[in-house]
Amino acid sequence: MEELVRLCKARGFVYPSAEIYGGFRSTYDYGPLGVLMARNVKDAWWRSMVQMRREVVGLDAAVLSSPKIWEASGHLQNFTDPLVDCKSCKLRWRADELPSAPKKPLPGEDGQAGQVVPTCPNCGGQDFTEARPFNLMFKTFVGPVEDEGAVAYLRPETAQGHFVNFANVLQSEHLVPPFGTAQIGKSFRNEITPGNFVFRTREFEQMELEYYVPPAEAGRWFEYWATERFEWYVRLGIPRDMLRLRPHDKEELSHYSSATVDIEFAFPWGWGELEGVANRTDYDLKAHAAASGQVLEYYDSASGERYVPYVIEPAAGVARAMMAFLIAGYTTDVVAGEKRTVLRLHPRIAPFQVAVLPLSKKEGLISLAQEVLGLLQPVAMCDYDETRSIGRRYRRQDEIGTPMCVTVDFASLEDKAVTVRDRDSTAQERVPIERLVEVVTGRLAW
Ligand code: GAP
Repeated sequence: MEELVRLCKARGFVYPSAEIYGGFRSTYDYGPLGVLMARNVKDAWWRSMVQMRREVVGLDAAVLSSPKIWEASGHLQNFTDPLVDCKSCKLRWRADELPSAPKKPLPGEDGQAGQVVPTCPNCGGQDFTEARPFNLMFKTFVGPVEDEGAVAYLRPETAQGHFVNFANVLQSEHLVPPFGTAQIGKSFRNEITPGNFVFRTREFEQMELEYYVPPAEAGRWFEYWATERFEWYVRLGIPRDMLRLRPHDKEELSHYSSATVDIEFAFPWGWGELEGVANRTDYDLKAHAAASGQVLEYYDSASGERYVPYVIEPAAGVARAMMAFLIAGYTTDVVAGEKRTVLRLHPRIAPFQVAVLPLSKKEGLISLAQEVLGLLQPVAMCDYDETRSIGRRYRRQDEIGTPMCVTVDFASLEDKAVTVRDRDSTAQERVPIERLVEVVTGRLAW
């Protein structure tokens, strides 16, 4: 994990935010390669959820949102974590995440063998304040006056933006359940214990589908989406044995959910959630209908049938998916006695799909390499590098996961062909320049 965090910083995937000021409370910025990769993760999600389906449409709702939404959704009341303060060092923790350790006997007390109690990760203290609920939503003010009437919240999930637009979408799109709305965007939670690099941050991007189904079909669609979403990670290169489905216990369920299954990934520190698939029932639509006085139901004019659909929700995080792809793809091997780091990313997830590398800076090669670059840029994200030895340039491209390197050498000037090197096998193929676009796009086919 440490090596990966170092690579992420050195190669421009992820930087600690405000680093020149000593960083800022577990926030991160995405560098040149990080934005490319995050964009690819989102594109891959959008492709499978919207582009490849007829019954799912896109949406992009506001981040700043009315308190009425969060009152009706139950988030003002229920979106809380239990918070305790350590009485020794005064640091604040989530009560449900405190590690346990054998109880230390108090002065004059005999140790009780086997008894384990919550323990402060900072100072080892075992005496805490009573747990109290702490709302995770960020509150702000809209307009020039900071009073209760101006309160707004930064959304803690994109989901409510779907539900409050349910009637709008239904009216403009004439959809029949099962149908869905897909949205990618930032969400904000005042997490008490952010950490594990970008795994838990206060500002993060979500990719959420709200899938509206007839209530009697909810169980079937819940199973369908759990499988479909699991397979999405597998298709994009995560080994099956690094993934598992973990159903929530009754006590763990969110206030809106009747069943949830997490898709978990084997992170270096243990299993962690990549995505949750929940059966939100008709909880949200009914809550917003009651609070707004609007009709939020599906009406079938042919049969006269009218009902409030159930919602099946696969909800994923961009950063967690990125981390999983990076961790699963990170490999080191030894080639010709030298250590080689390779990010074996799916070609569509890798920041660059192709690197164009002229063998030398000699006149003629540079202009041909730039011509080749011009041919490839419309079909792939390309890096271009003419510095240092070719071996070192290959190693850099391996380390950032570029699946193909196109080398323009002296023979290229004569035979109008280039060498295409494969990242994983290091195999090289001579390809006529006039066929290069076809070969590259062929290797990028989904
Ligand atoms: N609308 C349902 C919902 O928001 P969630 O399980 O709280 O469900 C969905 O969040 C996904 O969003 C998570 O599986 C995770 O990938 C991502 N996520 C949630 N909180 C996060 C945080 N603090 N930092 C990074 N990603 C987070």
